[in-house]
Amino acid sequence: MSAQASIIEPVAFDVDAVRRDFPILSREVHGQKLVFLDSAASAQKPRQVLDAERHIYEHEYANVHRGIHYLSQVCTDRMEAAREKVRAFLNAGSEKEIVFTRNATESINLVAASWGRTFLNEGDEIVISEMEHHSNIIPWQFLRDEKGIVLRIAPVGDEGEFLMDDFAGLLNERTKLVAITHMSNVLGTIVPVKDVVRMAHDAGAKVLLDGAQAVTHIPVDVKDLDCDFYVFSGHKLYGPSGIGVLYAKEALLDAMPPYMGGGEMIRSVTFEKAEWADLPYKFEAGTPAIAQSVGLGAAVDYVTGLGLDAIGAHEADLLTYANQRLSSIDGLKLIGTAPGKSSVVSFTMDCAHPHDIGTLVDRAGVAIRVGHHCAQPLMDRMGVAATARASFGLYNTRAEVDVLTRALEGVREFFG
Ligand code: ALA
Repeated sequence: MSAQASIIEPVAFDVDAVRRDFPILSREVHGQKLVFLDSAASAQKPRQVLDAERHIYEHEYANVHRGIHYLSQVCTDRMEAAREKVRAFLNAGSEKEIVFTRNATESINLVAASWGRTFLNEGDEIVISEMEHHSNIIPWQFLRDEKGIVLRIAPVGDEGEFLMDDFAGLLNERTKLVAITHMSNVLGTIVPVKDVVRMAHDAGAKVLLDGAQAVTHIPVDVKDLDCDFYVFSGHKLYGPSGIGVLYAKEALLDAMPPYMGGGEMIRSVTFEKAEWADLPYKFEAGTPAIAQSVGLGAAVDYVTGLGLDAIGAHEADLLTYANQRLSSIDGLKLIGTAPGKSSVVSFTMDCAHPHDIGTLVDRAGVAIRVGHHCAQPLMDRMGVAATARASFGLYNTRAEVDVLTRALEGVREFFG
């Protein structure tokens, strides 16, 4: 550990105990101990999640909501218990407001296709930001091209900070929706979403928050935020892939038409017409991600058990430490240094392309993501084609930051 780094005292968080819950963390890659710094792309899974999913398949599995036999009822209870866990996790008012989807992307597409197509008209405006993931850009472009709505882009500053005054200047009587990330997957910037919601509501607009990154680092209370829609993916929250969440206020979901048609989402069907099932099933056509929802419930239990405040404090310590260590590397430039940012460190090096950085550190067992991170407009804004990105989860350690630092010093030496 460098003399500079030892200035910061580690926070109390039993990361060794946490790491023992994640079987994959004990494996090696290229003969080196795995250092997994790519949790912003997808997080690893604790035994508690793996066991919950395995238990369902081994002991309780059947299709849900449609059987009177014992296993169908047990499995339905498990899935609905998971929905209740997610409701409590977000502090939503009702389980009717929790729609299970495949991922955050599908949740946003659902809102665009159902609410957007129904309630937006030519000339209406949607405000997004320069730091959106493609999944919070393209669904609105579909709508722009289909309905003639207008996209307005809230800019970010040179540090990657959200520029509130510029955002405020975009709001007007035509603004119908503000769709904005809660936390940037590239910059780590935390958007002051409570203020965003208040200002958007004052302008008469609804607000969708993309919580895919934030939900793993920050406690989220949708009642307190008063957002209209909040979306996230299970796989970044230490849960399974294939399960995501759309929270929406009940009145909005009530007014929205179904997104997909099929079994499960109807009350009655004739060849002439159909009536829709109650919330949230109106939006869950077809056999859902049953075991994955139970796994997500276990993931919610896991992070809630550790406490998101404690997790956030641990990750903040790692971020501060990583900033110190990486800043000492000659020719390394941090991309995204907004105050209050969270758990991702994007950077470039003057000696190597991000893909070369990623390839070389991988040989040292260090998994990072390189490229445009599904945020090409943000790359353009920051004046880079790509970055290398280390992202931290609750299981990472300062020692792993040291391994990353040594690997990056190796990149510097390799390219001279
Ligand atoms: N959105 C994910 C990431 O930032 C995939 O890597």
